[in-house]
Amino acid sequence: MTTPAAVIVDAAAYAQAVEDAVKASAAYYEGGASPLDDDTYDRLVRGIAAYEAEHPEQVLPDSPTGKVAGGAVQGDVPHTVAMLSLDNVFSPEEFTAWTASLARRIGHDVEQFSVEPKLDGLAIAARYTRGRLTRLVTRGDGTAGEDVSHAIGTIEGLPDELAEPVTVEVRGEVLMTTAQFEHGNEVRTAHGGQPFANPRGAAAGTLRAKERAYTVPMTFFGYGLLPVPGTETALAEQLLERAHSDLMAQAAAYGVNTTASAAVPGITADTVEQVLARVSEIAALRAELPFGIDGVVIKADLAADQQVAGSGSRAPRWAVAYKLPAVEKITRLLEVEWNVGRTGIIAPRAVLEPVTIDGATITYATLHNPADITRRDLRLGDHVMVHRAGDVIPRIEAPVASLRTGDEQPIVFPEVCPRCGSAIDTSEQRWRCENGRNCHLVAALSYAAGRDQLDIEGLGTTRVVQLVEAGLVADLADLFTLTRDQLLGLERMGETSTDNLLAAIAAAKDQPLSRVLCALGVRGTGRSMSRRIARYFATMDHIRAADTETLQQVEGIGTEKAPAIVAELADLAPLIDKLAAAGVNMTEPGTTPPRATAADSGDEESGASEENEPAGPLAGMTVVVTGAMTGPLEKLSRNQMNELIERASGRASSSVSKKTTLVVAGENAGSKRARAETLGIRLATPDEFAVLIADFLD
Ligand code: IVH
Repeated sequence: MTTPAAVIVDAAAYAQAVEDAVKASAAYYEGGASPLDDDTYDRLVRGIAAYEAEHPEQVLPDSPTGKVAGGAVQGDVPHTVAMLSLDNVFSPEEFTAWTASLARRIGHDVEQFSVEPKLDGLAIAARYTRGRLTRLVTRGDGTAGEDVSHAIGTIEGLPDELAEPVTVEVRGEVLMTTAQFEHGNEVRTAHGGQPFANPRGAAAGTLRAKERAYTVPMTFFGYGLLPVPGTETALAEQLLERAHSDLMAQAAAYGVNTTASAAVPGITADTVEQVLARVSEIAALRAELPFGIDGVVIKADLAADQQVAGSGSRAPRWAVAYKLPAVEKITRLLEVEWNVGRTGIIAPRAVLEPVTIDGATITYATLHNPADITRRDLRLGDHVMVHRAGDVIPRIEAPVASLRTGDEQPIVFPEVCPRCGSAIDTSEQRWRCENGRNCHLVAALSYAAGRDQLDIEGLGTTRVVQLVEAGLVADLADLFTLTRDQLLGLERMGETSTDNLLAAIAAAKDQPLSRVLCALGVRGTGRSMSRRIARYFATMDHIRAADTETLQQVEGIGTEKAPAIVAELADLAPLIDKLAAAGVNMTEPGTTPPRATAADSGDEESGASEENEPAGPLAGMTVVVTGAMTGPLEKLSRNQMNELIERASGRASSSVSKKTTLVVAGENAGSKRARAETLGIRLATPDEFAVLIADFLD
């Protein structure tokens, strides 16, 4: 969907719009932070173009329309062949119309397309002389660019020397991957510099900066290979005749990184349908890519088609950019909230001036931890670049330092726990209330009683507050020793509710170990991890006896998580003992303990309990459930579905990726089903799935 063009009503508004656009585009291309985000800039330029179409006599010479880089930049190194921009399309219909007009121009349908990600960095020409990288030139105004050869050696994917001693020019995009950007801003702020607002600005600024005390790596992706006029005529002729996809293979053979080896590689396609399918695929993968893309570039792949189509002054006619919705917007940071989680973690959250990104209104963004705020040098009132792609929680990329007015205020970190007022443990990156999970006893108990944990009906938050306030429970185990008289003494507790609650609590004692473990709220151990641990160890005693090394036998537990779990379980030991003494079940039905763990003899051999069990029908499969379940599965909650999958030896996951083997799609399944279709993953209806795991249904 295209956002509407800015509406320009008169000549004065037009002149102002041109001035704003030129300023923004200069900042953009020079690596400063533009006061307009991409979307706003696009709308402004479309508004300018619309006004000019109505009033051709008023067109100002500075107008950005029809110019490469909006006319903002000039350079002094002439390009051998103009470095052009691309025309944009925004929908399948616009793309189809574009192919039709290209077909008319060349006299037949395009035989083969190439489809590749549109990398969000900046264009650069890299000249190689007899195989050595001799010059780097920015795009500039398209006819001449700026010499940035000082950046040679800092750009991954652009080797100093090619595998063959050829004289060629490689064109492509220089960018910072998300990781390079994070690292770059850290290094920069550590040197007293202001953070860059986003990876694109960071790449532009870094590329142009000379004589910095530090280097920040960038990455190159080639998307063009051309001869250098006047040299090696045989090679030159050959290059001019080869298809774009061939040239990419040739560049890769020379040792250059290209779009063909990007995380979403460029491919060729024969039909418009295939192109559009690839566009959808790339769009679906966008949020997970290690670098930013702002669209998909589609090119006529064959040299003959390109030559016949030719180029205009601004853009070639044989290529087009299919723009994807913007994922970044600038808004203001209004406030930082400090929320205390179930386990006492004190987490900052950014409150933003509401901003719409790709159709969603964003009001909050994650800030991770206090160190993260300091590292990003964020201040209240700052303009911030907010990034949101797919279903991922929006994040603040960085403040837009150039828009500071001086009125921004430092973000105040809490000195005591904002929930209970006790001291804060700041020894780790994530701050924690020293009261730990007691700080949040109510939240912790409500969570433990929840449907996916101990499933104690009648024990909602209101009831838990009552119990805590009356001093009847100080920890989870106290629930199991509540007496009838104690409950009857509470307000709004009649005989029936009391008996029902006592029965529900008694029933909770028989929950499987996986749910008891989950109810304890061990950090990093949610529902599925609790199930995996319980299935591996079979009894609480075995879990408690496990050292960090043994714990790492469980899928998903690595060197970081294992010691944290061991430490938490040690902390929880008195509570676990109290629960066991109250008669709470501490075993996982249907599993057997590992053959040898630290709990047993000193026997070296150890093995997963699963090895002793026959494999279920989902062995080796990763299954995602989406939509409403029907038939025999109708009553199962998502958590119960996941339990079922794991009982049948599968792995339950909540997101569809290339690793997913099966998607169980019920009624009203939405994006996950679509994604499974895009990725070609097997789909099953709830009924089909019920047949598959029939032996495991209770
Ligand atoms: S081809 C003559 N391919 O997008 C054809 N450009 O908005 C020129 N870009 O100036 C470009 N990824 O900086 C091409 N795979 C890709 C690209 C790509 C990013 C940039 C390039 C270009 C701009 C136009």
